[in-house]
Amino acid sequence: MENRIAESLKILTESDKEACETVRISENEPSFGKRTLFIESYGCQMNFADSEIVASVMRNAGYATTADAATADLVFLNTCAIRDNAEQRVRTRLKQLNVYKKKRPGMLIGVLGCMAERLKAKLLEEEKMVDIVTGPDAYRDLPRLVEEAETGQKGVNVFLSREETYADISPVRLNSNGITALISIMRGCDNMCSFCVVPYTRGRERSRDPFSILKEAQDLFNEGFKEVTLLGQNVDSYKWTGPQEGQDSEIHINFANLLEMVAKISPELRVRFSTSHPKDITDEVLYTIKKYDNICKYIHLPAQHGNSRMLSIMNRTYDREWYLERVDSIRRILGEECGISHDMIAGFCTETEEEHLDSLSLLEMVRFDFGYMFAYSERPGTPAAKKFEDDIPADIKQRRLAEIIEIQQRVSAEKNQKLVGTVQRVLAEGFSKRSDDDLSGRSDQNKVVIFPKEHFKKGDYVNVLITETTSATLRGKAVIEENVAAY
Ligand code: SAH
Ligand code: SF4
Ligand code: F3S
Repeated sequence: MENRIAESLKILTESDKEACETVRISENEPSFGKRTLFIESYGCQMNFADSEIVASVMRNAGYATTADAATADLVFLNTCAIRDNAEQRVRTRLKQLNVYKKKRPGMLIGVLGCMAERLKAKLLEEEKMVDIVTGPDAYRDLPRLVEEAETGQKGVNVFLSREETYADISPVRLNSNGITALISIMRGCDNMCSFCVVPYTRGRERSRDPFSILKEAQDLFNEGFKEVTLLGQNVDSYKWTGPQEGQDSEIHINFANLLEMVAKISPELRVRFSTSHPKDITDEVLYTIKKYDNICKYIHLPAQHGNSRMLSIMNRTYDREWYLERVDSIRRILGEECGISHDMIAGFCTETEEEHLDSLSLLEMVRFDFGYMFAYSERPGTPAAKKFEDDIPADIKQRRLAEIIEIQQRVSAEKNQKLVGTVQRVLAEGFSKRSDDDLSGRSDQNKVVIFPKEHFKKGDYVNVLITETTSATLRGKAVIEENVAAY
């Protein structure tokens, strides 16, 4: 997932994660005399998926993508606003881009995505090199905004829509390995977690027409893709009501129904999804995962905290017991081997030392496979910023975060070690980063597995006997030919 962010199931520290988050830049495609567009994407998988929509919109307007920012006619940064350092990195990058722009004054720079939405026209005042500011729901308007900017008029469109899902736009796959792809199934978020800026940058929750999702997944499969990841801030609240094709009656589709529909495309197409919300993930979803071998047994279930008072002021609408019960249900229905990962925030407003210990004990109790862990970063305008003081000193936040990371790393290493001697079904995604003699892929439980290439190629399902592990990666060797097959 996030492929999950760059490659891995690494236990990412804040800075690691941010570093990984910038890796997505557009690639060279044949330009045939077209103008060129460089897109760099920050943040979550939904942003990466959005950049593919943007590339599609701009292709129709006569732009081909390039991997070279210095020579591009148009440079877009698709930004994230989730923590302050995500925004600082964009500001630093803008300064670098301004060097290119000074050499080639015709170059236009657009800031897209969540930071654009959060700062709106203010961004044009603060960063003079920026020509275009576009929020996540206004990408269809980009060609017009670019045309206007070409005449010297700076353009802003940060309108948030209640309907836009870009359902009819075929994304241009960027940085594609040709095997795994992201599909947005919904946009926005109606939850109001008090620390979170997303409801303000992405607007109201809306679900995409399931038939357009199915078509996208089917098209990908026909093109040779073997894995799709269905994306939403809270996939469990996916809901769609509409006319059934060719009939008068209406149908209601929830997330479990959608998962099943996509899983039925082919047993050879793996289905992943992210993110599940502990308050909304239902047993119906879990039983659907169980029913289909090609729905991966891996759930990203952000906890955010292990203490019920903290969860309450975070407005997560569940408590520690509820969270633990959901984990129990996952393991009861899907078995102990189902992968579970988490997000955790250290140093949220008013957090006491004892409350912090509850996060540590949650990690010890659940024994997650891996996690994404952050120090709390106050976001202007959020309920937490309005109601509470950001009162935990930076050094204490960092120390608490380090304690969380330490436990997670140990548990991940121990859990991976237990997999030595087991056979994991791996979808090969390409060469390993270190050597062209090895292939890299992920197991059903989303663990990165490296193994000697032999006669295998990307796109193959390979049964790999695990021989060595670290907290981040499994290594092994393919086992007998007959086992190498689809589901
Ligand atoms: N929709 C997902 C999360 C999206 S944001 C969910 O509900 O779980 C990804 C992660 O960033 C969150 O899970 C949270 O752990 C972290 N995050 C969000 N706002 C943050 C903030 N203000 N400071 C630190 N971490 C934050
Ligand atoms: Fe943010 Fe909460 Fe929505 Fe996730 S569910 S995007 S954390 S408001
Ligand atoms: Fe960042 Fe926006 Fe995603 S704030 S995490 S890019 S939804």
